Amino acid sequence: MQHRSLLFLGICGLAWAQDLSVPSSWREPTNSRSYSDRVSIAQNAIDVMTGQLNSANAQFNGLGWWQSGNVWSVMANQDNITGTTTNQAAVVNGLNTGWSLFANYDQYHTTTMLCGGRRPHTTLTERMGIPICCSMPSIQIRCPGCLENSQVTAAQASSGSTSVKSFSLESTCNGATMAGGVFWRPTSDDQGINSITTGLGSYLAEATGDGQYSSAATAAASWINSHNLNSGDIVLDTVNANDCSTSPSSWLFTYNTGKFIEGLSVLADVTGDSTWTTLLVNVLAAATHTSAWQGDDGVITEGVSTTTDNDSVGFKAVLIRGLHEAFSRSASNTDLRSLVESYIDVQYNALLELAANGSTYSSSWTGPPQAFTSWGQLAALDVLTSAIDVNN
Ligand SMILES: *[C@@H]1O[C@H](CO)[C@@H](O)[C@H](O)[C@H]1NC(C)=O
Ligand SMILES: *[C@@H]1O[C@H](CO)[C@@H](O)[C@H](O)[C@H]1NC(C)=O
Ligand SMILES: *[C@@H]1O[C@H](CO)[C@@H](O)[C@H](O)[C@H]1NC(C)=O
Repeated sequence: MQHRSLLFLGICGLAWAQDLSVPSSWREPTNSRSYSDRVSIAQNAIDVMTGQLNSANAQFNGLGWWQSGNVWSVMANQDNITGTTTNQAAVVNGLNTGWSLFANYDQYHTTTMLCGGRRPHTTLTERMGIPICCSMPSIQIRCPGCLENSQVTAAQASSGSTSVKSFSLESTCNGATMAGGVFWRPTSDDQGINSITTGLGSYLAEATGDGQYSSAATAAASWINSHNLNSGDIVLDTVNANDCSTSPSSWLFTYNTGKFIEGLSVLADVTGDSTWTTLLVNVLAAATHTSAWQGDDGVITEGVSTTTDNDSVGFKAVLIRGLHEAFSRSASNTDLRSLVESYIDVQYNALLELAANGSTYSSSWTGPPQAFTSWGQLAALDVLTSAIDVNN
C-alpha cells in the first residue's frame, strides 16, 4: 500500500485538519471529582487488585500472564502521576520475582517480544528510576539481539529469507517493503507479523538514546503505516510474511491501535519528525471516534466478559494507556488533549456510575455492577489512574 504514504505526505502538505471534536452524543465527557478523590479512587482499585497477588510468582489470581504485567505498569504510572512512591516497593518486588523466575520475564518462551503481545504487555517505566516490566526496551536491555532477530531488515526483505525462519519471506506485500515488521513468535515456522509486536520499539530508542533503536522504531512504524492501517486509520492485526495474507478486516482490537498511538507519541519525541506527530493525530482521532469498539455514547464495549477471563478483556486498558501517553506528550495540541480528556472521562464516569460495586468494577463498562472479578478490575485500572492526570 505504497499509496498510503504518498497520500500521507499530501495530507501533511495541505495541513489537513483531523476531527478532534468531542461528539455531542458522548455520555458525560466531563469530570466533577476533586484531585484527591481521583487519587483515592484509583489507589483503592489498585489495592483491591494487589489483594489478589500471588507473591510467589508475581501474578494475580484470576489474571493471565500479560494481564498481570499490566497491573505492574499501571501501579508505576499511578506513582508517576501522583509524584509518590506508594506502589514502588510492590512493583519492584513483583518485577524482581518475575525476572528471577523467567528468563527475559517470559513465562512461556514463546512470544517474540515478551512484551507487546497477549502476554506480558506493559510499557517501560523508567519513570520510577528502574527498568521495569516486560517492555521491549527493558527486554532489549536485558536481551540484546532479540529485536534484531525478530524484526525483518531491509536486506532480509530483499533476499526473501531470514536465519530465524524456515520459510521464505515476501519482499513486499501490496507494493510496500516488509522490512520493519516484527514477528509475533520466535518459533521458526510461525509466519505471523503483527501490529502488537511491531508497535513498541520507540521506548527503547528513548531509554538508550541509541540511533539503531530509533531506526528500528521508525522502520516498525512505517511497516504498520504501510501494511496494517485500514482506510479509517484503525490498526489491523496480522500479515503473513510468507504469502501476504492478512487477518480478517473485522479484527479491530483496541490494543493494536492503542499501542500504535503510544509508540507514535514516543517516536515523534525521539525523532522530532512531524510525520509521526501527524500520523499520531490521525490515528488518535480515529481511535476515539470509531464505532468498532464503542457505542454512540462513547463508552467502550469491547472485552465484556462477566463470568470468565479472556485476553480481550484487558485490551481496552492498553488503549487508554496509549491515549494517556499521547496526552502527556502533546502539550501544545490543546484540541487533542481536550479530546483525550473527554474520552477518558466518558469511560471514568461510566465505570463509576454504571459498573462500580464499591471499589470493584465490572468488565462491562456500561454496567450493571457485579461481584468482584480480577479481570474486570484490571481493565478499569488504567482509566482510573489516567483520569487523575487528564483532569489536572
Ligand atoms: C514521570 O515520568 C516522566 C516521563 O518519564 C518523567 O519525565 C517525570 O519526571 C516523572 N515524574 C515523576 C514525578 O517521577
Ligand atoms: C472473550 O469473551 C467475550 C465475551 O464472551 C467474547 O466476545 C470474545 O470473543 C472473547 N475473546 C477471546 C479472545 O476469546
Ligand atoms: C457487590 O460485590 C459483593 C462482593 O463481591 C457481592 O456480594 C455483591 O453481590 C455485589 N453487588 C452487586 C450489585 O452485584
